[in-house]
Amino acid sequence: MAAVLRAAGCVFAEDEARLLMAAADGPADLAAKVERRAGGLPLEHVVGWAEFMSLRIAVDERVFVPRRRTEFLVECGIALARARERAGALVVVDLCCGSGAIGVALAAHLDGAELHAADLDPAAVACARRNVPPAGGTVHEGDLFGALPEQLRGRIDVLAANVPYVPTADVALLPAEARDHEARIALDGGADGLDVLRRVAAGAGEWLAPGGGLLFEVSERQAATAVAVVRAAGLEPRVEEDDERGATVVTALRVPQAPRTPKAPRTS
Ligand SMILES: C[S@@+](CC[C@H](N)C(=O)[O-])C[C@H]1O[C@@H](n2cnc3c(N)ncnc32)[C@H](O)[C@@H]1O
Repeated sequence: MAAVLRAAGCVFAEDEARLLMAAADGPADLAAKVERRAGGLPLEHVVGWAEFMSLRIAVDERVFVPRRRTEFLVECGIALARARERAGALVVVDLCCGSGAIGVALAAHLDGAELHAADLDPAAVACARRNVPPAGGTVHEGDLFGALPEQLRGRIDVLAANVPYVPTADVALLPAEARDHEARIALDGGADGLDVLRRVAAGAGEWLAPGGGLLFEVSERQAATAVAVVRAAGLEPRVEEDDERGATVVTALRVPQAPRTPKAPRTS
């Protein structure tokens, strides 16, 4: 089996063979799974799950496979949440949630957090509903903030939004596993890749709690433009890099307003 996978271009053929054997329901199912994998379907879609932050996340076909580099975004979100000094449960939102991997991982590290996840793609929403409710969260379907319940407005502490950020012209250059097997809406971020981010940044200020933060991933070459986008939206950005995982994450804070000092009464 490993030889078939290797011939099909699977670099970690032995490891994949082991995972396929563990996932298969008998020899006929195993043969079908090997054929699908050798035919180019992502391993995670064949076995039905992905490992993310040491968790097993269900991933349905066509749904974006959570990337290992995105674990860095989760780590930045955990650091942001832990730095918040505030009473009561933290409110965590995973916008553009796909499978819901980010939200589930954040909830696993932030005891008692109130978790919401949302996506526009019904296939992603169905997949997230397999992962997020068991972690204590709720999944919503719709366009960006339009999917969220009103009661979250101004209350979100951690707003993770791994939006699609591949420039349209570069989608054709992605590896076939992504290009052919993940939904276009999960990948294509418009001309410079930042169209969805611009819409998220424009809405984030009114949904974030004072001191809360929006976190998103970009490529290294998009970082300067992304920083300008969130700054223009009134947020205070910080760029963090993880060279090992090739990840660039922007954390953009809603800076709490200084309390207004009442005007001194006029004496004359
Ligand atoms: C890059 S994938 C990230 C998925 C997941 N957060 C992860 O990291 O594994 C982007 C996701 O954004 C969703 N999406 C794209 N446009 C959207 C919109 N306007 N409103 C809500 N979700 C959207 C896609 O359906 C897709 O699931």
